[in-house]
Amino acid sequence: MAIENRKVTVTVNGQERSAEVEPRKLLVHYLRDDLGLTGTHIGCDTSQCGACTITVNGDAVKSCTMLAVQADGAEIMTVEGLGTRNELHPMQQSFWEEHGLQCGYCTPGVMMAMIGLLKENPNPSEEEIREGMEGVICRCTGYQFIVSAVQKAAKIMAEANEKNDQKVAASQLVGEGNL
Ligand code: FES
Ligand code: FES
Repeated sequence: MAIENRKVTVTVNGQERSAEVEPRKLLVHYLRDDLGLTGTHIGCDTSQCGACTITVNGDAVKSCTMLAVQADGAEIMTVEGLGTRNELHPMQQSFWEEHGLQCGYCTPGVMMAMIGLLKENPNPSEEEIREGMEGVICRCTGYQFIVSAVQKAAKIMAEANEKNDQKVAASQLVGEGNL
């Protein structure tokens, strides 16, 4: 008996996207083959390498460990949603400046895993960053430059958040007529 395709709709990088897929299709294949988001890589298909890491509802997830149908209705971010060529995300900027990549195959997954880590722990120690990278494999860099890049990104993101908090506080004071 033929198994019917199912419509899967997600919000990916801020845009609603849909496609009809076989129920057995993995999320990583849905992103790459149906939505054309090939920045998410496939390194193993057996949940070892982390090259396929994205965020689903804000949490880092290996997209080869989930079926596309399980993501129906979810908010997804892939590496394509991080920044633009002219305005890099601090994570991208830091990888560039700290030489956090060589061949770059692992890089989208590593960056998305680290985005997930910084959401949970905005100020991680070197040891915590290394622990957070346990699920991702890089065959080129020896990891040290990746750690430096993540430390730099965490610092930039924390400073940006602090500035943002100060702006919000100032606008609240203006709104309350205290300035
Ligand atoms: S392709 Fe998903 S963990 Fe390797
Ligand atoms: S930069 Fe080549 S695998 Fe990580």
